[in-house]
Amino acid sequence: MHPALDHPALPAPGVDWVAGHMPLLHDAFAEVGHLFDGLRIAICLHIEPKTAVMCRLLVRYGATVALTGSPGSTRPDTVTALVAEGVNVHADVDDEGPQIDRVLAIEPHLLLDNGGDLTTALLRRGHGDHFLGGTEETTTGGHVLRARQTPPDFPVVVINDGELKLMVENRYGVGQSVVQGFMNATNLMLPGSRATVVGYGPCGRGVAQTLRQLSARVTVVEIDPYRALEAVMEGFEVSPLAAALPATSLLFLATGARDVLGEAEVALLPDGVVVAGVSHFPHELDQALLGPVESSAAYHRVHRRPDGRRVAVLAGARMINLAAALGNPIEAMDLGLTLQVRSLAAVAAGGLAPGVQPVPSDIDRAVATAFVAARTGVRA
Ligand SMILES: NC(=O)c1ccc[n+]([C@@H]2O[C@H](COP(=O)([O-])OP(=O)(O)OC[C@H]3O[C@@H](n4cnc5c(N)ncnc54)[C@H](O)[C@@H]3O)[C@@H](O)[C@H]2O)c1
Repeated sequence: MHPALDHPALPAPGVDWVAGHMPLLHDAFAEVGHLFDGLRIAICLHIEPKTAVMCRLLVRYGATVALTGSPGSTRPDTVTALVAEGVNVHADVDDEGPQIDRVLAIEPHLLLDNGGDLTTALLRRGHGDHFLGGTEETTTGGHVLRARQTPPDFPVVVINDGELKLMVENRYGVGQSVVQGFMNATNLMLPGSRATVVGYGPCGRGVAQTLRQLSARVTVVEIDPYRALEAVMEGFEVSPLAAALPATSLLFLATGARDVLGEAEVALLPDGVVVAGVSHFPHELDQALLGPVESSAAYHRVHRRPDGRRVAVLAGARMINLAAALGNPIEAMDLGLTLQVRSLAAVAAGGLAPGVQPVPSDIDRAVATAFVAARTGVRA
């Protein structure tokens, strides 16, 4: 079972509380929800109260929804609430991975994907003429779809391609929630700690900034010279990985890349270092390199290196904001899911060309305007 599920005591507002704080999503459904009436929609997403609000609105606006969970985040209480709302949930709380075939069995008109698995499976098995297209939530899924030799013959809107989503959700939302998850999982003190954030994309940048706001001493590792420069100009220590590791006590992995830490890097980890994952997949560090597990509890495993050093890995290096906190803050998800729904409605309306593409700029701009109004209470 996933660590988060061992802890039902983690304070969690229910679906109704969350729904009460998602004004943009409700406005979107009031405008474009009718476009989903009678359509079958296959969804792969983290199954938790914020995504549940969107799924139940899709059902209330007449769609048939088949939902499966992304690895590492399915909340059983949310599954129960969604089943009661008429959503077909194919979720495995033991986290064996998304049940792709079962959600695709509804022969969907639309896909809403998170990581590219659903869209890739549909491309492999083919689709009928009724299929309209879909959306993809993540940067990682966008890369997977763009790397294909043959592009999809239907529109796929990559929500993370928009500057707006990256700013609000990845930077501010992930920044807050990753640090919250870290604190929930460890109960350690941040002020004065030496933290290293590897990867200074929107997620890493948000984590680095939040850690600094809590008085951690933060070093950034980034291979892209422009992003490294940005981190320098924002006042962070910037250093090659090998130089940063020996002095770090907290290590946040936010590159989305594979095998960032190999044998040589693991050898540089100091005794007592705590490793937390931010990226979609925990592929940055092959945990087999860390040696035997000396002790483990709900949120961590402590490995003992042959020379006696200890390395603690939180939640198997999976996204700590989902494993040990409640994911992104509600308002950030209100914005992200509103971009999803409005983009999916544009696909349903047949207004988009085939291929992988960013959120249409008119949607992006309208959602930005609505978000400013929601945060300030002032409508333009
Ligand atoms: N935890 C969450 O809730 C959450 C939310 C959104 C996205 N994500 C995931 O977080 C990851 C990062 O997202 P992002 O939007 O910041 O992505 P991004 O691709 O914009 O940024 C990643 C950065 O890491 C850098 N990088 C790559 N390899 C590196 C290496 N070996 N050493 C140092 N730097 C390296 C890249 O140059 C890039 O600047 C992705 O996997 C994404 O799917 C997680």
